[in-house]
Amino acid sequence: MFRPEPDGRMHFAMYERNAKPVIDGLSPFLADIKGNALEIGSGTGQHVIAFAATFPVLHWTPSDPDPVHRTSIDAWRSFENAPTAPALALDAASDWAEMPEVRAISPLSLIISMNVIHISPPSVMRGILNGAAKALAAGGLLVFYGPFKENGKHTGEGNANFDAGLRVQDVDWGLRDTVDIQSIGESLGLVWRDMVVMPSNNRLLVLAKP
Ligand SMILES: C[S@@+](CC[C@H](N)C(=O)[O-])C[C@H]1O[C@@H](n2cnc3c(N)ncnc32)[C@H](O)[C@@H]1O
Repeated sequence: MFRPEPDGRMHFAMYERNAKPVIDGLSPFLADIKGNALEIGSGTGQHVIAFAATFPVLHWTPSDPDPVHRTSIDAWRSFENAPTAPALALDAASDWAEMPEVRAISPLSLIISMNVIHISPPSVMRGILNGAAKALAAGGLLVFYGPFKENGKHTGEGNANFDAGLRVQDVDWGLRDTVDIQSIGESLGLVWRDMVVMPSNNRLLVLAKP
């Protein structure tokens, strides 16, 4: 999946395909938002570098629990001289909103997590929602990007096959349902703002803290 450069920068094959549609999809929601933004599960770090360049009004903090990924994120930051913070070692299944490094940048205006909650157990989805309910500012947004089920159904055959393959790798992995995300979010006081249909049967889900 990743090809590391000598300085640790990794390239995610899907980055080039996803970057522009995600930025275009996010733009209307970020028009009036400033303050601190946290990315959960930043992976290579390529997206957060692009976000910081496109949405410079926000102060971006990337994170990932994987030290190899954090090396890549920080290597991209140096390579591009990007105005992002160093990557946090953040496990989204933990009570991460209480981490001193997160408390220092809270309340957050934006939390974004892309392609993470299907490649991790359900505790990660719940942890992101739980932490967002604590760490977001009033009016702050929680954004998920990736493939999802809707009302218990896959949105296409490709996603169904992808889901089956994930579950073979790990029984706790798999596409999450937008209905569950909405209902858990609402139980924590978050409101469902929007769902944007993206290329390749992906979705951008937007929840907000009232
Ligand atoms: C498929 S990659 C997506 C990377 C990036 N967001 C993107 O879209 O290019 C999934 C990422 O989720 C991270 N991840 C896995 N478990 C996690 C957890 N418990 N908390 C936060 N991130 C996690 C992985 O380390 C990996 O970087």
